[in-house]
Amino acid sequence: MERLSNKDGLEFSASAPPSIDAYEEVIKSYLGMRRDLMPKLKGLLKLDDSMPMALVLQTYLYKLAATGPASATAAKIAQRLSTMGGDVSQREQMHMAALDAWLQDQTQHSIEIFDDLLAKYPMDPLAIRIADHLHFYSGNGRRMRDSLARVLPHWPKDHPNCGFVLGMYAFGLEESGDYENAERWGREAVDLNPADAWSVHAVTHIMEMQGRHDEGIAWVKGLEPSWSTVNNFRFHLYWHRALFHLERGETEIALSLYDEQISTDLDADFNLDLCNGASLLWRLQLYGVDVGDRWAALGDYARRHLDDQELIFVSLHYLMAAISSGDAASAAQVTRTIEGWSDKDTWQGRACAEAGVDIAAAVCFINDGDYDAAVTRLRKCRYAIEGIGGSHAQRDLFELLLLHAARHGGEKDIASSLQAQRAAVKPNSRSASMLI
Ligand SMILES: [Fe+2]
Repeated sequence: MERLSNKDGLEFSASAPPSIDAYEEVIKSYLGMRRDLMPKLKGLLKLDDSMPMALVLQTYLYKLAATGPASATAAKIAQRLSTMGGDVSQREQMHMAALDAWLQDQTQHSIEIFDDLLAKYPMDPLAIRIADHLHFYSGNGRRMRDSLARVLPHWPKDHPNCGFVLGMYAFGLEESGDYENAERWGREAVDLNPADAWSVHAVTHIMEMQGRHDEGIAWVKGLEPSWSTVNNFRFHLYWHRALFHLERGETEIALSLYDEQISTDLDADFNLDLCNGASLLWRLQLYGVDVGDRWAALGDYARRHLDDQELIFVSLHYLMAAISSGDAASAAQVTRTIEGWSDKDTWQGRACAEAGVDIAAAVCFINDGDYDAAVTRLRKCRYAIEGIGGSHAQRDLFELLLLHAARHGGEKDIASSLQAQRAAVKPNSRSASMLI
């Protein structure tokens, strides 16, 4: 194995120069969320089956899938990587250490390693993206923003991957509440690379947070020919569009988007599809819409993951799917999984203890019609909910659940205080004025 460098000066351990070119192509596909990612990665591993960074990337992808079996596969590849220890570059070693910490769910340590790695190697796009994922899973917009701000000065605008970096920065700014700068960087990212669904998504979030529903629909629809070619992440952009329609009272369009896009590839086991679906159906129901038998397919999906302990944010959506499809036994099983998880001294275990267990209990209480108990549990954890990860727009569902439970419970003072808060935070939202 040789020590080779790419065009940005990053060192790789690889069998020959073509491995570096093939790796760069895989990275472009990964950053672009393209559907040719797995075939390209397979091609790279066929070319160089011991290239450490190819194996590191493969392990990250399995871990990102966030299912029990995929994590087990990730751990096996990491085991193989651990035997390569001393023969690889410092950057590669740092990736392996970050990966190990993540696999043990000691993600704070993983994040610290990525901070150090990126200080030394700010043009490592894989490290930038994985660190960004971990900040997202922590619900930490400021760390997302700052991680990108530290590397940004090193990226020339004419670098083929620069648009991806700007798009991540825009999203970090948005999740930190700096909408003005987020929009400036987000639009620049889209100008540089309109096919980057993540950059389009960053600007979509700004419009969601600012209640710019008409503009949001026009933005997403206008760029659809570009972003709709990406992997299942495209369904998340249809989900965002559905939220804008929901705010305009166009529930039929939201349901059509659910039927024609969001729910059409559940067999892919891409957990964001389940989260999009459960979140949209629950929101529609909050507005009094009969969603028919649509929960059944989401219930089937959830039943495959009742014991997973990967991401509490996702498991809460499994619970919503199980309980709404009428499968009380599966709902009880997910709840037990979350309760057991909360005893673990791990990153996600702590998120369960601080918020996940209470949210799960509240979902069950709402389903049983015990609204006051749901209010108690959600009020207890509401300022820790960020820690379960996801975006502000996604976690807004739990704010809506609290508002809904308070309005249907016996404590009218609490309901009216929450109503006032909602009107201040989301003045353009239907939920600010109408009963849900
Ligand atoms: Fe989003």
